[in-house]
Amino acid sequence: MGWRTIIEPFRIHSVEPLRLTTEEQRRQALRDTGFNLFGLRAEDVLIDLLTDSGTGAMSSEQWAGIQRGDESYAGSPSWFRFRDAVQELFPFEHVIPTHQGRAAEKILFSVLGGPGKVVPNNTHFDTTRANVEASGAEAVDLVIAEGLDPASTHPFKGNMDTARLAALLEARADDVPVVFVTITNNSGGGQPVSLANLREVRAVCDRFGVPLFLDACRFAENAWFVREREDGQHDRDVADIVREMASLADGMTMSAKKDPLANIGGWLAVRDDTLAEQCRNLLILTEGFPTYGGLAGRDLEAIAQGLREAVDHDYLRYRIRSTAYLGDGLAQGGIPVVQPIGGHAVYIDARSLLPHIPPLQYPGQALAVELYATGGIRACEIGTVMFGRRPDGTEQPAALDLVRLAVPRRTYTQSHIDYVIEVCHDVASRAGQLPGYRIVEQPASLRHFTARFEPLERNVKP
Ligand code: F0G
Repeated sequence: MGWRTIIEPFRIHSVEPLRLTTEEQRRQALRDTGFNLFGLRAEDVLIDLLTDSGTGAMSSEQWAGIQRGDESYAGSPSWFRFRDAVQELFPFEHVIPTHQGRAAEKILFSVLGGPGKVVPNNTHFDTTRANVEASGAEAVDLVIAEGLDPASTHPFKGNMDTARLAALLEARADDVPVVFVTITNNSGGGQPVSLANLREVRAVCDRFGVPLFLDACRFAENAWFVREREDGQHDRDVADIVREMASLADGMTMSAKKDPLANIGGWLAVRDDTLAEQCRNLLILTEGFPTYGGLAGRDLEAIAQGLREAVDHDYLRYRIRSTAYLGDGLAQGGIPVVQPIGGHAVYIDARSLLPHIPPLQYPGQALAVELYATGGIRACEIGTVMFGRRPDGTEQPAALDLVRLAVPRRTYTQSHIDYVIEVCHDVASRAGQLPGYRIVEQPASLRHFTARFEPLERNVKP
């Protein structure tokens, strides 16, 4: 230890060629897709930082698991290996496999949601919010104030504001079927939640008799931050910290496409027998039999092995340091990024980098489009495009206008990241010349996936 250079704790065993394109080709691709980066062909992207979801590289042991996968319809040995690996970290009574995280959300909120209900979370991820709202319930975000200040260096900016949670429960506990905490808080900058905060949330939930669930997609990164930043946690094994987080909750929804290092998969886990039965009944309608959910046996194997690798300290040290390397590289050149740097992604504060573009002209979209046009880098707007439209169709600025550079796990090398830093600085040096956008076509919900945009007249800073 003590060396400055980040050593990837793996070597490369099979490679995927990247395709170079010209700026002209990329600008044409943008016009063709209505300036929506979700509409691009992936081979037209050089460095794909759209998401860390399902885009990581599997290990040789995971590929060996793929071969070992047993495809029996019921009771496959792969199912038992998956269930045991999940329960090793999250000792919930019932583990219900799903094809990905949102399927677990859909099932859970179909049972617990509904009109008149309200679900608090530190910050709902987009699909979580959409599933709460699709059930007719209301989704409320109660992250601490520091979590909404991109410049604040609070070590646990994902923490829930327990005073506001208590006030909500005081007023409406009967309408709250479940309290959620997202670890790490993806939509709020990939920021961690402390064990102390989880304990406080638990105490508030107990006071009102409301269950607590984790949206645990990035549990291992969260636990690593706890180990690094929270008093008294420095010598603990990450797996132990994860078990303590689980012990504070009554259940979880999970996407195996994140920290479990798989390309597909997820699960719902609960303690309560009745709730588990209601969820399993829905599972059979849309996902499959309870010993495979929406997954093949081979996927269950990849997840089981990925879970073991996800809590390895050498891996997590590299993971968190390499994301910070990207964030520090941007910040050192004066690009405003959400501080401290999150676990899986770096978030550029587009509202502050592009002050000439008002939120309803989508500064995050403007920046993401230009990063692609300039360097073939695909990032993701997390701002007013994603969150600005209310269920009644009206628009308002989102809390923040961010552009997320999500880092796929074990996929890009340090020189790829050096290139990303160089391109971002080039775009930032021309920030004042970027145009805002307007939406010309959009669906009723989750509009960021398919909306079409048009650049506005160039709004050159004086
Ligand atoms: N919860 C959180 C916090 C997430 O980040 C995601 C997915 C989900 C739930 C849903 O899981 O994709 O398996 O259905 N986040 C991805 C992202 C898509 O890019 O951040 P899923």
